[in-house]
Amino acid sequence: MFIKPKRIIVTGAAGFIGSHLSVRLIREGYEVIGIDNFSRGRIENLAEIISHPNFRLIEGDAGEDEILASINADTLVHLASGKIPRFDSGWQVLRENERVSNSILQYCMKNYVRLIFASTSDVYGKNPALPFTETSDLMIGSPENKRWAYALSKLHTEFLLCAANRSSGLPFQIMRFFGCYGPKMAEGWWGGPQSVFIEQALNKTAFSIHGDGTQTRSYLYIDDLVNAVVRLVEEVELDSGIWNICGDPSTEISVFDLVKEIQTLTNPTEAPEIEWIPYASFGQYEDVMRRVGSAEKAFNHLGWKAETTLREGLKRTIDWMKQQSNDAESV
Ligand SMILES: NC(=O)c1ccc[n+]([C@@H]2O[C@H](COP(=O)([O-])OP(=O)(O)OC[C@H]3O[C@@H](n4cnc5c(N)ncnc54)[C@H](O)[C@@H]3O)[C@@H](O)[C@H]2O)c1
Repeated sequence: MFIKPKRIIVTGAAGFIGSHLSVRLIREGYEVIGIDNFSRGRIENLAEIISHPNFRLIEGDAGEDEILASINADTLVHLASGKIPRFDSGWQVLRENERVSNSILQYCMKNYVRLIFASTSDVYGKNPALPFTETSDLMIGSPENKRWAYALSKLHTEFLLCAANRSSGLPFQIMRFFGCYGPKMAEGWWGGPQSVFIEQALNKTAFSIHGDGTQTRSYLYIDDLVNAVVRLVEEVELDSGIWNICGDPSTEISVFDLVKEIQTLTNPTEAPEIEWIPYASFGQYEDVMRRVGSAEKAFNHLGWKAETTLREGLKRTIDWMKQQSNDAESV
């Protein structure tokens, strides 16, 4: 039987989501041990808590057994991960995510640590039945198309968690995040479309839209996502399961409309200039034409729903990106 968590490991703590989550958990009074190998993370993301007595940062590999064995904790939030393999063959994302998840799972099973895992909406793949619910079919594409390697690597960990729960009772939660944005997101496509489009708007260069821009998403502001993770950390009596962490289906928006919204908030008197990038230009690629989830389960069981409108979230993100470039210029 679990008691209220006290000491929480966050893998990927210096990344976008990990840093926001670590700051929030410290504010809530938890002890946090962050692990990050800084392959993508930034120490500046942790500036608010780096010297806090309840925060400890381990610079290293979250898949290294010796590092994990040196930590006592009751909950582990596993965020460290490779993402969609735009720039490699898919080998790295498949091998690394499998290796790190295996070590994390062994550690949690051995020490009876509750495991909260960051998966992705990409696992729903090409399923045309919207909105996706946690029981929807997962329809990813061919292994000949490397873009599905990320979804498969996340699904592999989801299957491992469910199997570990059945065989050893390991308590887990799987969070399927839908596209999240906000301050501290990574630069470029690693950070997602908001990162790319806001930078292009601030530099007054053309927006690079893949395909024809009619593909739709429902985006989630970082504070809303963190609220959901904190709810899952706190709800120790919940049955293990899968959770869509996403905006309401009514927030579905096309990529082209997202660009127009960003243009309105940055350069309202000018029409957006678009560079249309055919999918064929980055090899074999299959986009998900509509990616919309239902967070009804999270609302019914956790009382959680997304609160921040896209406009408000974009304004805050744009302010942060402006501040970042001012800071860079004044150095
Ligand atoms: N941001 C989104 O919109 C989104 C959507 C769906 C799923 N997710 C998932 O959420 C998680 C966090 O995403 P994010 O946007 O914060 O990514 P991010 O890249 O900003 O953060 C990941 C962090 O993990 C670290 N890391 C990677 N491999 C590591 C390893 N082996 N050991 C230690 N640290 C390692 C990186 O340095 C980075 O700081 C990921 O698992 C991602 O797949 C994110």
